[in-house]
Amino acid sequence: MECNASIAGFAGEMLSTGFNVVGFNWISSPAATELESIVMDWLGKLLILPTSFLFSAGGGGVLQGTTCEAMLCTLTAARDQMLNKIGRENMGKLVVYGSDQTHFSLQKAAKIAGINPSNFRSLLTIKSAAFGLSPDSLRSAIQSNIKSGLIPLFYCATIGATSSNAVDPLGPLCDVAKDYNIWVHIDAAYAGSAFICLEFHYFLHGIDGANSFSLNAHKWFLTTLDCCYLWVKRPKCPNQITLNRS
Ligand SMILES: Cc1ncc(COP(=O)(O)O)c(C=O)c1O
Repeated sequence: MECNASIAGFAGEMLSTGFNVVGFNWISSPAATELESIVMDWLGKLLILPTSFLFSAGGGGVLQGTTCEAMLCTLTAARDQMLNKIGRENMGKLVVYGSDQTHFSLQKAAKIAGINPSNFRSLLTIKSAAFGLSPDSLRSAIQSNIKSGLIPLFYCATIGATSSNAVDPLGPLCDVAKDYNIWVHIDAAYAGSAFICLEFHYFLHGIDGANSFSLNAHKWFLTTLDCCYLWVKRPKCPNQITLNRS
């Protein structure tokens, strides 16, 4: 058994597998989907996320398997939103940003999402800034890319990088991203569970400027693999068909 599992996680896994829950979407399992919404808001409130990430205030989320999936979902959502505005023919110009501390899952998601590999930016961090990304570095990379005719799309901030525990300064980085209309995803896969403790909550300052946020419950929340919480501020696409739930 994985060393960070728990009896509650084991029991939950056994029940959901035993009942063969087909939780693709609301239509295939209304009960599972409604329960998922409740759980997303429940954990969101425990983490004191901005209400804009909660279903109760127009946001919401989905339990993913892994952070790799969360990255891919958010990146493809950002990509499609942008391409709807600027035209599909501009796909090759989209740029994705992270730092040299960002987990490899961002680069993997960018590859799968069809981002031109030469438009993936891994920005340098330095030890004296505890390997957090400098907002000035992000801004100058964006400006130089715009000058070259590219289109900034997505920035992945990390709170708690796997190798160094680096924390990106969310507030100032989200301010930069906002100036250029870039989607900000916050990857807190590894350390995010800690923010349930009030004394660590300050690491989330600035999260209200982000579009999406994810963490892995299968790490310190002791669920069995795989369980990644993904919250987004605007879960509905403008032209999405609304299913009649009655
Ligand atoms: C900071 C960070 N991001 C992303 C990931 C990838 O998570 P997953 O294996 O759930 O895709 C990890 C995994 O260790 C991580 O620590």
